[in-house]
Amino acid sequence: MTGEDSDESVVRRDRFSGGPARGFLSSLAADERIFAADLAVDRAHVVMLAERDIVDAEVAGAILSALESVEADGHGGLPGGEDVHEAIETAVIERIGPDGGKMHTARSRNDEVATCIRHRLREDVLETLEATLALREALCAVAAANLETTMPGYTHLQPAQPTTVAHWALSYEAAIGRDTERLLETYARVNRSPLGAAAFAGTTFDIDRERTASLLGFDGVLENSMDAASARDFALETTSALSVLATTVSGLAEDVILFANRGFLDLADDYSSTSSIMPQKKNPDTLELARAVAGDAAGGVGGLTTTLKGLPRAYNRDLQRATPHVWRTVDAVSEATRVAAGAVATADWNVDDLAAEAGAGFSTATGVADLLAANGLPFRTAHEVVAEAAERGADYDALESAAQDVLGDSLAAFVDPAAVEAALDPAASVASRDSLGGPAPTAVEAALERAETTLETDSGRVAERRDALAAALETLEAEVSAYV
Ligand code: ARG
Repeated sequence: MTGEDSDESVVRRDRFSGGPARGFLSSLAADERIFAADLAVDRAHVVMLAERDIVDAEVAGAILSALESVEADGHGGLPGGEDVHEAIETAVIERIGPDGGKMHTARSRNDEVATCIRHRLREDVLETLEATLALREALCAVAAANLETTMPGYTHLQPAQPTTVAHWALSYEAAIGRDTERLLETYARVNRSPLGAAAFAGTTFDIDRERTASLLGFDGVLENSMDAASARDFALETTSALSVLATTVSGLAEDVILFANRGFLDLADDYSSTSSIMPQKKNPDTLELARAVAGDAAGGVGGLTTTLKGLPRAYNRDLQRATPHVWRTVDAVSEATRVAAGAVATADWNVDDLAAEAGAGFSTATGVADLLAANGLPFRTAHEVVAEAAERGADYDALESAAQDVLGDSLAAFVDPAAVEAALDPAASVASRDSLGGPAPTAVEAALERAETTLETDSGRVAERRDALAAALETLEAEVSAYV
């Protein structure tokens, strides 16, 4: 490429994007997010071009040195441009002359931007994965400390059956565990390289796409070049998985808010806020915000889906406006998950108040009906007796009088009175529900052990991916230093 060519290309750029729509066209500011990713992508691409003798080693060295100086100056130091890809190329040309333009041989901004988004997003997904692990760890710790802490369990916000704090905590741990799983599966599809697809139609140059993929720590390439440049299903899938996580976190936040409201737990001051006018207030604001993030995430999914729907192959500029939905969603959901983990880890459970409330609202009624049914009464009849007793005071005497009226005989004719007394006791009621996954401390203890093992396995999986990215970065740095 001659100096004239390069001047011409600058003239062309000015002609096409220098007008009043300049700001509207440009993604340069938003691209700060992928500044580091773009430098990595440039480096891997240039190393591969040199290895393939598409660019000679000396020029590659000059470009790679220039990239170091561009990196040192930071995103803020870039010249203007339509986007970070163009601005970095211009910055390289400013430093070493027209040869800098050889960096863009055998690629397009279309495959470049898709590669950069995936490169950056996998970091963000790993961070969110780590947040899910932290939340699960906090929930396991709550469970371990509260295997025997009875509390009321609710349906329709009304006391329903006694349970334990451990059973409650592990219910969310299980759900967040599925979020970890989902994000790990998503990660596998994010971590594929589109680089080398060029505009969408591949290239005449003898490039090595597998090589750039591996230098960038991707698990492989997206083969079809039209698919590689166009596809954003990875972004939609990630945002959707994040939305599912945010929805789970919002339910957890709501429970904790209700528990704090009922005096069942005290939030740490770090996770509370006060009122500017009412000096006595301690509000669960962090959890209210975490609850609200489900709205951000659903908005991200909606915005992204609407932008992507009906887009034709192969590249359309709409894609530029698709990307920020992903960043906003991942930032919000990652932070909400972290905050929820911190709030759960530092909350103080009021064990005595919880136990005192565990039997409120005749929450042991189902257990008493179960007992009558286990002693031969049809469950429907047992249900009727206990429902009648609920109206008459919800204790042994109430059951006795209901039995007389509904069954025409004393309760003792059907069931051992001591067993009835036990069924009326919240702790005994919980202990008797020891079916798989039930709240009995024995069942929950076994479940906790399995949850901790799975958590450890998942932590290993996340760490493996982190290590793989770090190793790839090290290799890339070593390859680059051979030219610089
Ligand atoms: N800045 C663009 C984006 O974020 C990438 C550049 C592709 N531009 C183009 N005119 N083909 O999607």
